Amino acid sequence: MCAGSKESYELSWLVDQLSPKLSRLGDVQKCNMSDQYRGKVIVAPMVRVCTLPFRLLTVDYGTDLVYTEETVDYKMLRSIKRQNDVLGTVDFIDKSDGTVFFRTCERERSKVIFQIGTNDAQRALKVGKMVEPYVAGLDVNMGCPKEFSLKGGMGAALLTQPDKIKSILTTLVQGLTIPVTCKIRILDSLPETLELCKLIEECGVAAIGVHGRTRQERPRHPNHNDVIREIAKVLTIPVIANGGSREISRHDDIKKFQQDTGASSVMIARAAMWNCSILRPEGFLPLDTVIEQYLRYCIQYDNPFTYSKYTVQNMLRELQDTPRGKAFLETQTLQEISIIWGLEDYFKTQLAKQNEGRKSLNFEMSEGKTAMPPSADHVKIVEREENGQKVVEMPIQFIRGNFNNADLPKMLLNTHVFRKQLKGPMYSHVIVDKFFSASVTVDGVRYTSTLREKSKRYSEQGAAIVFLHAMGLVSKTYGFVPPQGARKYLTEVTRQIVKEDVMSNEIMRNNDARIENEETDCKKRRLEDDSASVSLHQQESSQETDTSRNNNKSSITDGAS
Ligand SMILES: Cc1cc2nc3c(=O)[nH]c(=O)nc-3n(C[C@H](O)[C@H](O)[C@H](O)COP(=O)(O)O)c2cc1C
Repeated sequence: MCAGSKESYELSWLVDQLSPKLSRLGDVQKCNMSDQYRGKVIVAPMVRVCTLPFRLLTVDYGTDLVYTEETVDYKMLRSIKRQNDVLGTVDFIDKSDGTVFFRTCERERSKVIFQIGTNDAQRALKVGKMVEPYVAGLDVNMGCPKEFSLKGGMGAALLTQPDKIKSILTTLVQGLTIPVTCKIRILDSLPETLELCKLIEECGVAAIGVHGRTRQERPRHPNHNDVIREIAKVLTIPVIANGGSREISRHDDIKKFQQDTGASSVMIARAAMWNCSILRPEGFLPLDTVIEQYLRYCIQYDNPFTYSKYTVQNMLRELQDTPRGKAFLETQTLQEISIIWGLEDYFKTQLAKQNEGRKSLNFEMSEGKTAMPPSADHVKIVEREENGQKVVEMPIQFIRGNFNNADLPKMLLNTHVFRKQLKGPMYSHVIVDKFFSASVTVDGVRYTSTLREKSKRYSEQGAAIVFLHAMGLVSKTYGFVPPQGARKYLTEVTRQIVKEDVMSNEIMRNNDARIENEETDCKKRRLEDDSASVSLHQQESSQETDTSRNNNKSSITDGAS
C-alpha cells in the first residue's frame, strides 16, 4: 500500500480515532494496576527472611502486600518449575543442585510481589513471564548496594544508568500483564533523585518504592524522609516509603511514617522481621507466639533450616543471650528448633505426612533436603557378599556444611588406613541419572553408601563415612540420613544399577572414563556459566558465607539493600 493512497488515509484516520481511546485504555489499566499500591502497608524484600513461611505469617497479620527475597534472573532462568502436590505449592528448583529457591502457594497469590535482580531487559522479561501466573506483581531491585549486585551491574548500579532503566522497565511494562514496580535508593542530590524518579514514572511502572538512604548510607544513618516527601509531591504514581524501621516501633508508627513522608504507602523491612505482628492493627502478639507460628509454617512448607534459623535469630535479637537463646544457637536442624518451641510432635506429624506423600508421589531427594532427621542413629550397617567380596552398606549422605576441613571423612579414613597399614583405599563409582554412587575398597572389603550424591567427590566422602562407621571410628550421629521416602527412592535405584553392572573391573574403568568425561564437560559448562553469571555466583557465595556465619554466631543483620 503506497503512501497517500485511499487505504493508507483510511488506516491513518482509524489510528487517529483509536489512539486516544487506546492510550486512555492504557491509562485506565495503569491506574488499576497502581491502585494495589495506594494506601497500603507492605512488607519489604528481605533475603533469607521473605520465603513462603514468613510471607504467609505477614498475610495472617494483615499485610496488604509482601515482597519475596531478591532472586537474580540467571538463577530463575536455570530453574525448573514443579507443582508440588505434597505441600500444595508451586516450586522453582535450581537445576544445578536441586534446591527449591522460590516456593509459593495460592493463598498468597494476590499479595506476593516477586523481586528480581537484573541488568538486562530480555532476561528480566523471561523471568517475569515465568512468575506472572503466580504473583501479584514484579519488582526490580535498583537499590541493593552490595558488591555482588554492583559488580553484576544490578541493584544500585542501575541508578546511574538511565538507558538501562528505561529498557528494563518499559520492556517489562509492555510485556507483562501484572504490575511492574522498582525499588530504588535516593541519589546524592534532590534534583538528581527527582529526575531519576520522573524517568522511572515515564516508563509506565505502577508504583515506585523509595528507600530514603543513598547507596553509601547504612541502616544506622537517618532516613531522608524529606526527600521521599519531595518525590511524592512530583510523581503521580504511588510512592512507597521505605527505610523507617528505626522510627517504627509499634503499629501506629507506620501511619506516622506515611504522613511524615507524604507517601502513598509504607514498606517495612526490619520492623516486620523483628516482630512481624507489628502489622496487626490490634497490637503486638508475644514474640514467642510469633516465633511458634512462624516455625509451624517452616515445618509445614519445609523451609530451609538455615533460613528458618536466620529469621528466628533476627526475631530473638538480644534474647539470644538467654539460656533458651543459647540453646537455640546450638541447633543444627529444624527439628531441634521445633523442640525448643514445643513443636516436636507437630514436626513429627508433618514430617510423616510429607514423607508419606513423597513416597506415594515418588518425589526426588531434593524435596526432603531440609527436613532431615538429625542423626544416623536409626540406620543399620548391612553386610553382604557380592561375587565373593564382602560389601558393607549404609544409606548415608555427606553434607559438606557439617564438616570442618580438618575432619573430612576421606582424611580420617586415610589416617586410619595409614596408621593400621591397611590395603587401599581404592575408590570406584557408578553414575545413576547424573548422580554418583561411590564405593571405597579397603583390605578387600567394599564400603558403599546406598545413596547417590550430586558430585563424584561427595559420593566418595559418603563411602568413606560408611567405612568410618563400620570400623566404629565415629559416633552414630556422623553423616546425614534423608527422610524415609527419599532414602527408599535413592537406595532402590542405586542397588538395581549396581546389581546390573556387577562392577567388574572393566566396567569400573569404563565408568571412571565416563565420569572423567562428564566432569570435564561439567567443568566446561560451569566455566561458560561462570562467565555468564559472575554476579549470581558472587551473590550465592556471599549469601552462603553469611548463612554459615549465622549458623554459629549471634550476629543480627541490619539490612543494607
Ligand atoms: C535481612 C535483610 C535482607 C534484605 N534483602 C533485600 C532484598 O532482597 N531486596 C531489597 O531490595 N532489599 C533488601 N533489604 C533491604 C530492605 O528491603 C529495606 O530496604 C531496608 O531494610 C530499609 O527498610 P527498613 O528501615 O524498614 O528496614 C534487606 C534488608 C534486610 C534487613
